[in-house]
Amino acid sequence: MIMDGNGRWAAKRGLPRLAGHRAGTENLRRIIRASVEFGVKYLTIYAFSTENWHRPKEEVDGLMNILEDVIDRELDELNREGVQLRHIGHLERLAPTLQEKVQYAIELTRNNSRLILNIAFNYGGRDEIVCAIQRILRDGIQPDEVTPELVDRYMFTAGTPDPDLIIRTSGEMRVSNFLIWQGAYAELFVTPVYWPDFDREEYFKALVEYGRRDRRYGRVSSSDLCE
Ligand code: FPP
Repeated sequence: MIMDGNGRWAAKRGLPRLAGHRAGTENLRRIIRASVEFGVKYLTIYAFSTENWHRPKEEVDGLMNILEDVIDRELDELNREGVQLRHIGHLERLAPTLQEKVQYAIELTRNNSRLILNIAFNYGGRDEIVCAIQRILRDGIQPDEVTPELVDRYMFTAGTPDPDLIIRTSGEMRVSNFLIWQGAYAELFVTPVYWPDFDREEYFKALVEYGRRDRRYGRVSSSDLCE
């Protein structure tokens, strides 16, 4: 999920941008519930990108506080509901207390399996690939040993299947550095709806639309072969 449009949602109402992020957080609760209900097994949310550090300090601090609040307020319920929390990106630049909270949440929920909720926070796809290359070289892997499967194992998402569907709210037709390796063959669904208004019905529409797509992975479709 590329949860875009919080700022525009707020501006439309004459509210500060952080009010949009708060409304977006409320919506996230609904979308997590709907994911469990729809039988989605893996949900990755793009909550803070490596580029978001360039936003005004007040907004950056606000987004950090939101992550902390989400863990403080929602962790017990998420755990009871069988949600496993994971993180992709770099924790190092976050405040030590926030890092500890994220680690604690990951540890607490590690045996849950109803929904894997991957939080992309301080995450960037290019940065992830650069880190993978650095670690591959440090491990002394030889060039002919480098395969897509090996690269997968060096990604933050190691052990997680590639995304089938990337949903972007608020109309922008780009992936903005989100899962650029893993999403090579992901289907895209872009809706004009701003993230805080992206409700269960719109989510369901995206899944139905996904069900109609013909995923060919660079091949021809099986119906073409039969003719
Ligand atoms: C993009 O909208 C949204 C973000 C950068 C943050 C997304 C965060 C949440 C939905 C809150 C949940 C967060 C956590 C940490 C669990 P934008 O600000 O770019 O909107 P705009 O394009 O309309 O300005």
